[in-house]
Amino acid sequence: MSETVKLILDGKEIELPVITGTENEKAIDISTLRATTGYITIDPGFKNTGSTQSSITYLDGENGILRYRGYSIEELAENATFLEVAYLLVYGELPNNDELTYFDESITHHTLVHENMKRFFDAFPQGAHPMGMLSSMIASLSTFYPESQSANRSVTDIEKTIHRLIAKLPTLAAQAYKHNKGLPTMYPRNDQSYCGNFLQMMFGLPTEDYKVNDVVERALNKLLILHADHEQNCSTATVRVVGSSQANLYSSVSAGIAALWGPLHGGANQAVIEMLEQIRQDGGGLQKWIDKAKDKNDSFRLMGFGHRVYKNFDPRATIIKVAADEVLEALGVSDPILDIAKELEQVALNDEYFVQRGLYPNVDFYSGIIYRALGIPTDMFTVMFALGRLPGWIGQWKEMTEQSEPIGRPRQVYQGANARDFVALTDRS
Ligand code: CMC
Repeated sequence: MSETVKLILDGKEIELPVITGTENEKAIDISTLRATTGYITIDPGFKNTGSTQSSITYLDGENGILRYRGYSIEELAENATFLEVAYLLVYGELPNNDELTYFDESITHHTLVHENMKRFFDAFPQGAHPMGMLSSMIASLSTFYPESQSANRSVTDIEKTIHRLIAKLPTLAAQAYKHNKGLPTMYPRNDQSYCGNFLQMMFGLPTEDYKVNDVVERALNKLLILHADHEQNCSTATVRVVGSSQANLYSSVSAGIAALWGPLHGGANQAVIEMLEQIRQDGGGLQKWIDKAKDKNDSFRLMGFGHRVYKNFDPRATIIKVAADEVLEALGVSDPILDIAKELEQVALNDEYFVQRGLYPNVDFYSGIIYRALGIPTDMFTVMFALGRLPGWIGQWKEMTEQSEPIGRPRQVYQGANARDFVALTDRS
């Protein structure tokens, strides 16, 4: 017999079904609540609200578990390529050899962007934040591929849009970087891997050959996998909601990039490094910053600490911390910022305020240190996050459309003025 819960409202008892997930997560299905009772629920920040039933990513925040389509993040980060993970997230299964070859070739052959897009870059001021440029450029792809704007397209056409997006995002990200540097853009190369190609477009110059460093390529591959999906977070929920209006995939992902940019979300990786730099310039004393973070009258927060879902540890942070040590050692880079980060982590982990609230380093606490070691400038960190998150956004958008989910449209409890008569301008005090 299926499980239900009873709700007593205005003396009337109603029964609501309970939904059980494959990992035994429970949810009360309130989809008929307003129609049967006139009531809605309210849940700012959606802290208790499930917006969908999804089979993409499983996350157990209490036990620090993260799996894509059932595969543990630890195993994927250790053994897979980013393209294999992208395929897994978008299509549901790890690709076999033929499937991977087809996917890889298709992505490789869509990496060029329309030459007119260069003129957009020319118009951006030098020093423009690359996330602003990226979000705009991705939205503009929909104008170069107008067929993507039609909601009722064949599976093959949708697939082409998906492959184009995965192929072109690294090209546009690297072009945003080159624009800010005042350097010539590099065209993609078909003889490189996905990560290798991005690195040559970022760091290569037309004047000389660029050799992709294996350590850097492997580190990038791992970082992108760790960021590839994270169930219904702020940017992914944004992609699904925007897509639910049948807006095209490019625009939906552009909105996701905008959501990711915020310092409480993906923008935290940039904010962490800026915070650590500030601490270093201030002399390196940590207690002052810990006290500021705890002071409710001070807006300062320890960036890279805390997570809406992880309350014990973030498994991605555990992997990244080890990777940061390995990358710095392999590249022979010593970064005083890493030492401050490790010290800060220890001080916070032993402080009652952080312990009581379950505030631990999150994925962004150490990722910036690796990106710095790879030579990626701070304002590009969130772009790197977007590169990683792209297949997750696409997989979630695809699932939302395949499940024919209704348009996302929350309700509200109105707390404003009651009906009143219009006051003429001359009579207003
Ligand atoms: N420093 C100091 N205090 C904090 C912090 C922090 N980083 N994070 C949370 N708190 C406190 C907060 O003030 C509150 O205290 P109290 O209960 O006394 O009012 C309590 O901890 C709970 O915080 P919350 O803001 O209600 O929790 P949330 O789930 O709404 O927010 C968060 C989660 C990630 C936005 C928040 O922890 C934060 O702002 N962290 C810093 C930014 C950051 O690193 N973001 C990256 C997240 S990981 C990448 C991603 O997936 O987006």
